[in-house]
Amino acid sequence: MATTVILDHPLIQHKISLLRDERTGTRDFRILVSEIAMLMGYEAMRDLPTELVEVKTPITTAQVPMLSGKKLAIVPILRAGLGMVDGILNLVPSAKVGHIGLYRDEVTHEPHEYFCKLPKGIEDRLVILPDPMLATGGSAIQAVQFIKDKGCNHIKFMCIIAAPEGLKALQQAHPDIDIYCGCLDEHLNEDAYIVPGLGDAGDRIFGTK
Ligand code: PRP
Ligand code: URA
Repeated sequence: MATTVILDHPLIQHKISLLRDERTGTRDFRILVSEIAMLMGYEAMRDLPTELVEVKTPITTAQVPMLSGKKLAIVPILRAGLGMVDGILNLVPSAKVGHIGLYRDEVTHEPHEYFCKLPKGIEDRLVILPDPMLATGGSAIQAVQFIKDKGCNHIKFMCIIAAPEGLKALQQAHPDIDIYCGCLDEHLNEDAYIVPGLGDAGDRIFGTK
């Protein structure tokens, strides 16, 4: 059963508020995005499967839980999703990393693909798909479709800020995926930017513009 979780942890909320502040510069913005991704990842991975494995402690031998199954894959949506990868990798350092390159047309707001490279055996992996912003939902919907087209159906989408419009569109297009949002904002403006939002996440992470 797929789930949508709005993370209401005070640490996540505090860090998102710092991100929103237009005075937050590139260095701090990057650090905050990474920290928020790690905190969100902790929550998103709470249902990872484990298996009992025998370990010899200095005291005795015991059956203890370890993560089971094929290593998961982190597939950020370029560019801004890249800013979340290190935070998630802190939790699962041996995860594979793929990339999906999409940019939003400034006029139509439609997503355009320019790159897609996924880890081998993607059909057997859990894919964590991070992108800080879910605005119209077009980019996330297309990225999820790419991954499904490669045979993978176990996908968790993770965004720092979502607009209600984008969340609804993603839920309708892909009702089978889990969605984790740091915060659900008010609405989109006429340029399809999230209000109050934080501006252009890619530009703020990479210091462009
Ligand atoms: C931003 C953001 C999402 C997308 C969200 O990327 O990182 O990928 O917009 O908008 P949507 O929900 O309406 O599709 P952008 O296209 O600006 O590219 P960038 O990450 O390279 O800046
Ligand atoms: N992409 C962003 O980076 N910010 C928004 O508010 C909407 C789309």
